[in-house]
Amino acid sequence: MGQRRIRTVFSILLEKSVRIGYKFRIRAGGHPKGDQVKKIGIKGTGSCVPERVVPNSYFEKIVDTSDEWIVTRTGIRTRRMIEPGQALSDLATSASERALEMAEVSPEELDLIVIGTSTADMLSPSAGCIVQHRLGAKKAVAFDVNAGCPGFIYGLAVAQKFMQDGSCRKALVVGGEIVSNRLDFKDRTTCVLFGDGAGATILVQSNGAENGEILAMDIESDGDLWNLINVPGGGSRIPPSHEMLERGLQYVKMQGNEVFKQAVRTLVDSAQKIMTQQGITSEEIDWFIPHQANIRIMQVVAERLGIPMEKVIINVHKYGNTSAASIPVAMDEAVRNGQIHRGDLILASSFGAGLTWGAALIRY
Ligand code: ACO
Repeated sequence: MGQRRIRTVFSILLEKSVRIGYKFRIRAGGHPKGDQVKKIGIKGTGSCVPERVVPNSYFEKIVDTSDEWIVTRTGIRTRRMIEPGQALSDLATSASERALEMAEVSPEELDLIVIGTSTADMLSPSAGCIVQHRLGAKKAVAFDVNAGCPGFIYGLAVAQKFMQDGSCRKALVVGGEIVSNRLDFKDRTTCVLFGDGAGATILVQSNGAENGEILAMDIESDGDLWNLINVPGGGSRIPPSHEMLERGLQYVKMQGNEVFKQAVRTLVDSAQKIMTQQGITSEEIDWFIPHQANIRIMQVVAERLGIPMEKVIINVHKYGNTSAASIPVAMDEAVRNGQIHRGDLILASSFGAGLTWGAALIRY
């Protein structure tokens, strides 16, 4: 009898402790080993843009536009475009090699490769797997995130989650895009806006000092607005056909004016959300890296956030809108030209096709 009572008390205690342990793990973020959430920082950056420079004057010859219109309405003076035969993985692999070199990490050490892109080399497999092959990153798991222009921000958020619970220790996150072969060079409202490029970062577990820390991420989407920017042809709804090509459905379609309004709203909201979460004011931001779509969007957003233009990293005049590549290319250039230093607080925010948007707050 006494023994049975002891057994019952023991089993109740055991059940309770299991429940408490379970609850604790869930509250701590569902970490299988009950480990603390790891800090994740950026150890290296790299970028690659095509050699071919396409100035605004090129478009003056093929559509009814002018250098003056393009510069005043967008801030773009030149963009880079690939040569026929080149593809996303050419730029993404070079950008990744540069980031690996800066981080002093070998490809074999990578656990995870995430590529933010909607213009992989082929419809299948992913650009991630092609880049894995080209780098020789045998141990990594590789995949793409198709989130339009915020593809890099989405990729950072995904990689950070995999790394915070300790399941991945070293990750490569790339944002890259070949928009030039999705452009209708008869449509002046889109063809002047975009360019090609790729930017890469190496993420590592960090003590918060040496390699900084990704402090906060925000990613959001509103599929009700899918129609504002899209490439309708070539997928499963409208597969490739002569008719599809004749109707130009393989090209980017965009309602520029409406996108402009949504861009301002989402860039501001997302940036404010993560600053508020972290108790950080705009005066504390050292560098703001907005999606490089249009200088006017960047000016309005910076003003609404209370960030002076001297703190805004800008390269839209050189590269146009490189979609998912825009933030990591701008970040890499600013690191390499000595603007961004270790310890600086970086705010990045982006928006794009989906509609998708998001922001990152990074102690570099
Ligand atoms: N050259 C000359 N005239 C032009 C051109 C051009 N390249 N493009 C448009 N126009 C004309 C229009 O036809 C229009 O003429 P109309 O008044 O006779 O009809 C006039 O210029 C004004 O057009 P708007 O569209 O009102 O011009 P706006 O000042 O809004 O600038 C732009 C257009 C640059 C597209 C702007 O709306 C914009 O940047 N929007 C956001 C786009 C964006 O960020 N897209 C990227 C998000 S998704 C991604 O990054 C993949």
